[in-house]
Amino acid sequence: MQIGPYKLGNNLVLAPMAGVTDRPFRQLCRSLGAGLAVSEMVSCNSLLWGSEKTRRRADHEGENEPRSVQIAGADPAMMAEAARYNVDNGAQIIDINMGCPAKKVCNVMAGSALLRDESLVGRILDAVVAAVDAPVTLKIRTGWDRQSRNALRIARLAEQAGIRALAIHGRTRACAYTGDAEYDTIAEVKAAISIPVIANGDIRSAEQARRVLDHTGADAVMIGRAAQGKPWIFRGIDHYLRTGEHLPEPPISWIRDLMLDHLQQLYAFYGEDVGVRVARKHIGWYSKGQTGGAAFRQFVNQTDTSETQFAAVREFFDRLAAEVDLAA
Ligand SMILES: Cc1cc2nc3c(=O)[nH]c(=O)nc-3n(C[C@H](O)[C@H](O)[C@H](O)COP(=O)(O)O)c2cc1C
Repeated sequence: MQIGPYKLGNNLVLAPMAGVTDRPFRQLCRSLGAGLAVSEMVSCNSLLWGSEKTRRRADHEGENEPRSVQIAGADPAMMAEAARYNVDNGAQIIDINMGCPAKKVCNVMAGSALLRDESLVGRILDAVVAAVDAPVTLKIRTGWDRQSRNALRIARLAEQAGIRALAIHGRTRACAYTGDAEYDTIAEVKAAISIPVIANGDIRSAEQARRVLDHTGADAVMIGRAAQGKPWIFRGIDHYLRTGEHLPEPPISWIRDLMLDHLQQLYAFYGEDVGVRVARKHIGWYSKGQTGGAAFRQFVNQTDTSETQFAAVREFFDRLAAEVDLAA
């Protein structure tokens, strides 16, 4: 899988997820087998660039290459400016978000809402590609709603504009996250264009990744929610795609150590207060499905310092490891 000058280590991509794919999580997923991790979107509104949140989102210190940063917005000139700003701050690939249905994005006619206005899409793509030397990628859904699945026309526009890879989430904007993702439209787009295509939507297992790659002919798969609380999913899928065999699930003690290290990274990156809040989400995902997980989450969500949160997590997973690993 090649994006402009960058050859990825494999064909697995961590999906951009606002509030999730911060630098610590991207680094974790990269170290556990993701060939590329796309950052959370950075607003193209330059008024926000000085904010703590945007500054943090543009912090790539120590991050694996290539560093891909997503931008969102609807004004071609502002998007071009945002692309330049992020390249100046260390982005090596610029990803344009036309795939996110979030209200906050759609109300200002950005994200997947843009798919409705193909001429504006063309102008945004042209402006961003012209603004930076870095390769520009695009993320879309299959269309605005089921009646207007225009992914193919958008894909052709993207190819003409010089977009270097296209990620497609197999749902329309109107579908939000309901129903199952469909991969026929992705297959149709892949057959029609010659830039790399990345298939996305509901990929939760190694077999599913294999099926989607086979069905669509896509060059890579992108995984979002299935990596939450399970960043080692990439390693397992990579192994399966290479060998046809499954890696064993990691022992609880290994998950505990990984998670505790993740928590330390979050505290260091966000500082005490925000770090504890952001960590709650991840702790919730890591503990999902574990015996006693619900009661543990209720308890740990009441801890409000990194010290007490960390200790509660360690205690819970120590106990689990003693029960589960030793029984195995
Ligand atoms: C919490 C969350 C935040 C997301 N934020 C973004 C975003 O900022 N930009 C974007 O293009 N897509 C965003 N998405 C969509 C994902 O990138 C992905 O397309 C979608 O979750 C489908 O993939 P999955 O089934 O593997 O999760 C987000 C999804 C989730 C669950």
